[in-house]
Amino acid sequence: MRVAVLAAEAVPYSKTGGLADVAGALPKALRQVGVDSLLITPLYRQTKENLIEHLAIDDLWVVWRGQNYKTQVYYSEANGSPTFLIHAPEMFFRDSIYGYREDYERFAFFNHAAIVLLRRIGNAPDIVQLNDWHCGFAAIEIAKLRRWDSYWHNTRTVFSIHNMAYQGAFGTEELWKLGFGDDFSRNAFSTGGAASALKAGLADSDMLSTVSRRYSYEIQMAENGYGLDWLLRQRSDRLIGITNGVDYDVWNPETDSDLPAHFNAQDLSGKRMCKRSLLQKFFLPENLDKPIFASITRLTSQKGFELIRQTVGEILATGAYFIALGSGERESEDFLQKLKNYAPQQVGIYIGYNETLAHQIEAGADVFLMPSRFEPCGLNQMYSLRYGTVPIVRAVGGLDDTVENFDRVSSTGNGFKFREFSADKFLEKIYEALFTYYEPETWRKIQWNGMMTDNSWENAARKYVQLYNMTRS
Ligand code: ADP
Ligand code: GLC
Repeated sequence: MRVAVLAAEAVPYSKTGGLADVAGALPKALRQVGVDSLLITPLYRQTKENLIEHLAIDDLWVVWRGQNYKTQVYYSEANGSPTFLIHAPEMFFRDSIYGYREDYERFAFFNHAAIVLLRRIGNAPDIVQLNDWHCGFAAIEIAKLRRWDSYWHNTRTVFSIHNMAYQGAFGTEELWKLGFGDDFSRNAFSTGGAASALKAGLADSDMLSTVSRRYSYEIQMAENGYGLDWLLRQRSDRLIGITNGVDYDVWNPETDSDLPAHFNAQDLSGKRMCKRSLLQKFFLPENLDKPIFASITRLTSQKGFELIRQTVGEILATGAYFIALGSGERESEDFLQKLKNYAPQQVGIYIGYNETLAHQIEAGADVFLMPSRFEPCGLNQMYSLRYGTVPIVRAVGGLDDTVENFDRVSSTGNGFKFREFSADKFLEKIYEALFTYYEPETWRKIQWNGMMTDNSWENAARKYVQLYNMTRS
């Protein structure tokens, strides 16, 4: 089976969040279970030059807004699968990946160029896997092509939802210019008086998937459906939840090259060294017996950072450390800065994006905080599990599916979990974690349970293969 994965960001070429981790790892995992997969993604300014292996196509002509547009395509296997990077400097060679008024147009172009490329490769894929709103355009283009172009006759599309909160909305008057002026396309894109690339992907892909089972139910309800829950209910027989995996080639405390020392479930002595080094890094006193609470996140309302703001004072009052790595909303960034000034001996902050530090925090911390409002899957709680860092999560989406609350009687569970979005409920779990931290044997058991949890991509990749088979039949 031939599968082409399209994604706006993919590790190690580009990244703003978990979508990149998944898009980078899935094609490799698919290859490992026997699928002939490839990845197509834009070439950004942030893509490191040394990742590129060679120029694959010097002149990929893309007809765009009535003009012939020359793009180049670079090739790499840096993520463990054949990857084609679309080089269209005007569109993608910019300071950041997203955040431009014409983002919808940039990704519409990306989709169109990817389709031209798939045609040029000369071997039509059985499945094109589309990820998030950035790839909604391709769902419509392929659905239309299939009607008259025999090349695409047997190609089916799977649309994977990583986050319903981002819709890729724009004015319907733009549809003509993007080549989607016909009735079929207009219907697919239109919602609430605007055009939405997400809606198009949901409406006309052959199958839909999302990144956890729980989220696949949540998005069928108004609260998390962003006005499209009706469509997901209507297509629920075509929607399936597959929990993301972890790329243990990248996130493994036994081999992680970003760490000052290595460790595993049997021997945690290296974790203690990572903790010491993390405290040093933030110029904090080296009191290794006090727990480190940590957070690594995009500072957006999705992540429930306000619950951390409301409880961090109590955490510090117990003498614990708090270390945060994140960037996003100004108010939260300012809060972190103030917190640092207030308790410089207990608080470490890094405002910005720092991949190496993310690994070091996962390894050196004791407790990971993830009180999300909603969370389609969430990767950091799974990284935490593998690094012996106990997660405290809210029971939503993938967090609910991957973290099991620790039960003292049966000694089962790998973290702490609360349901209601309230500081009190979160604090209860924080205290429970603190109490347990000071019972080393019990704590060791929770860490063990977490480190032994198997979230490898292999399981997930097999489920994708089943999904692809269903899609083709
Ligand atoms: P989301 O994709 O919604 O942000 P996930 O938990 O799926 O949430 O994935 C987040 C990914 O982004 C993780 O790999 C995490 O380590 C990384 N990340 C988030 N913020 C930062 C940051 N400031 N610096 C480095 N990595 C970050
Ligand atoms: C999105 C979601 C996150 C998920 C990631 C990868 O960014 O917010 O929960 O883990 O996609 O699927």
